[in-house]
Amino acid sequence: MDINHRASILIGESMNFKGRDIISMRDFSKAEIMHVLNTAKKIENGNYSNLFSGKVMASLFFEPSTRTRLSFESAMNRLGGKVLGFADKGVSSSSKGESLGDAIKVVEGYSDVIAMRHPLEGAARLAAEAASIPVINGGDGSNQHPTQTFLDLYTILKTKKTLEGLTVGFIGDLKYGRTVHSLAHALSHFGAEMYFISPDSLRMPKDDLNDLKAMGASFHEVNDLEKVIGKLDVLYATRIQRERFPDQLEYEKVKNSYVISKKTLQDARKDMIIMHPLPRVNEISEEVDGTPHALYFEQARNGVPIRQALLALTLGVDV
Ligand code: CP
Repeated sequence: MDINHRASILIGESMNFKGRDIISMRDFSKAEIMHVLNTAKKIENGNYSNLFSGKVMASLFFEPSTRTRLSFESAMNRLGGKVLGFADKGVSSSSKGESLGDAIKVVEGYSDVIAMRHPLEGAARLAAEAASIPVINGGDGSNQHPTQTFLDLYTILKTKKTLEGLTVGFIGDLKYGRTVHSLAHALSHFGAEMYFISPDSLRMPKDDLNDLKAMGASFHEVNDLEKVIGKLDVLYATRIQRERFPDQLEYEKVKNSYVISKKTLQDARKDMIIMHPLPRVNEISEEVDGTPHALYFEQARNGVPIRQALLALTLGVDV
């Protein structure tokens, strides 16, 4: 992050995104969130085919991804930018022991912005401290996934026509699911009533709950979807994150905790939408895909305009 931007945040002038890192939803005010969503709408509805002409994005994915990486790359390619990078840490020099900080200091000489994913919490923040160009977090361990949250909010806004006062259920792996941590924080700005539906062992982390309490958010922790499904405007399902369990036996105990089927939806409101950051394993039966509730594939498509907006704002190109 550049020094001027850090100073502008301190004096409350944070609507200037040029040079800014996108690391955590905790770094964004409600007004800033709306600015990103409005920029995405403008780009999606406009003609900006050369917006990123002459710009290069480094795509550094130290952990597997389909949607985040490819939608970042699509975002640049569709608007005239270029992309370099890797999708497998095994082909980078981190496999020879190079530190993340050193890698970032090198890559910033080859690019204008860095989109990255890393398995360790805090890695994106560390990269941003090392970099003199903007760093955009595409997921750091179980911590945060802010670009996913922006596209989730964009999807909700397009469908429900508002973000204010919605009742949202989060179901599945709330302990390790970084998309939930980011989205719950963001929805607190909009007066959401939140239901956290999970097995006891996969509850939201205490730090996140304390954060929500401090924001005055209204939330409830429950085990059963059936008891609350009729209240929900949005049901946000998540995969049980097998790769983050220290003990695979614990994963086996909870892996099939919730499977959303047509039967599950009997008591849902007709206009309740089901979202999922994907990939899914078996949390949502394929029979649900054809119902008006299913929004997850449209949600994934919204990753392109949102990432175009975040790239445009951080690069400081005019929209
Ligand atoms: N939603 C999401 O982060 O998907 P990928 O892991 O495929 O990027």
